[in-house]
Amino acid sequence: MPSATVQTAGERVLSGMRPTGRLHLGHYHGVLRNWVRLQHEHQCFFFVADWHALTTHYEDTAGLGGHVWDMVIDWLAAGVDPGAATIFVQSRVPEHAELHLLLSMITPLGWLERVPSYKDQQAQLADRNLDTYGFLGYPLLQAADILIYRAGLVPVGEDQVAHVELTREVARRFNHLYGREPGFEEKAEAAIAKMGKKQARLYRDLRRRYQERGDEEALEVARALLEEQQNLTVGDRERLYGYLEGGWRVILPEPEALLTPTPKVPGLDGRKMSKSYGNTVALRDPPDEVARKIRTMPTDPARVRRSDPGDPAKCPVWEWHRVYSDEATRAWVQEGCRSAGIGCVECKGRIIDAVLAELEPLQARAREYEEDPEIVRRIVAEGCEAAREVARETMQEVRQAMGLAYR
Ligand code: TRP
Ligand code: SF4
Repeated sequence: MPSATVQTAGERVLSGMRPTGRLHLGHYHGVLRNWVRLQHEHQCFFFVADWHALTTHYEDTAGLGGHVWDMVIDWLAAGVDPGAATIFVQSRVPEHAELHLLLSMITPLGWLERVPSYKDQQAQLADRNLDTYGFLGYPLLQAADILIYRAGLVPVGEDQVAHVELTREVARRFNHLYGREPGFEEKAEAAIAKMGKKQARLYRDLRRRYQERGDEEALEVARALLEEQQNLTVGDRERLYGYLEGGWRVILPEPEALLTPTPKVPGLDGRKMSKSYGNTVALRDPPDEVARKIRTMPTDPARVRRSDPGDPAKCPVWEWHRVYSDEATRAWVQEGCRSAGIGCVECKGRIIDAVLAELEPLQARAREYEEDPEIVRRIVAEGCEAAREVARETMQEVRQAMGLAYR
């Protein structure tokens, strides 16, 4: 588990999703609602990891483009706001590939082989040959995605935490190897002097608190302070980041995984909602189909007849009430189910109403984008440009640090 640290609004958020096509309620409650919230609290970058899709599905790429646009439409429908967040596509920012290549030079094979998802996924997707260079490099490409934006926070699911850990290790190694420079301390002190008296005193004070007492909060505040400095060069900022903790520049800061405890909707059958189980409600399913899917959900098997009492704990419909219903409705379900006072049809009716009400504004937004796909293209093109600007700046630093900026 990532350590609990104070989060500062100055930290940039980055997250990505592989293009799987249309999204479902599991994505909405597990991921998208969280993105929508974060976009108002942080600078956010959300991207389609289309190269990552190729690491496992390199044989059949005909549907890739369709999946990308379908997914982006669902992001927008869910409320990801291109005015607040930068939305882009990985393969349109080729700098990710350059950073991936450069990081591959310093990444020991063992680090990649040890990532749990490597063997797990190979076993799970046994029908494909995943003995490829690209698949082994999956988490390193992810590290490049994160580090190229110098993101502080990476909202991901539990299964991705190991990838963020690897990202941290790679960043640390990079900084140790390439952040050392002669006269570091003098340069750092000169940079402090440029901050102005008051800020400089604050920085020194915070640095001391961290170094003498291991005060993590002081470290976070000091980093936020550096974020705000307008008159520091990128190099000086990297030095002052590094000076807080050690004797080298922090060219690629270490990100934190941001695990969000959102209530999850399970699939219609009670297992995890997933396309491969055929138990999803897609965000753009027509209302009558949504109703039909919920109506035919399995219930507590003990309730064969309407008069048989049931137990919500044994029923997937109850899990949906936990997400969708208020306290009063939940009490009504508990009581009515156990006493056979209500029928499953009624019980499901409440869920149908709630899900349809939730989906209605989403589907209205989706329709606007479906009717004018050019808007979606434009949003993504603009997002790619904005992302590239940040990525290019990082790459200049990286090339410089690695001795590649020679002439
Ligand atoms: N591997 C992630 C997933 O499968 C997708 C991803 C790619 C990602 N690059 C990323 C997530 C960078 C967060 C940050 O869900
Ligand atoms: Fe499930 Fe509701 Fe039927 Fe009880 S009444 S078994 S909770 S659908």
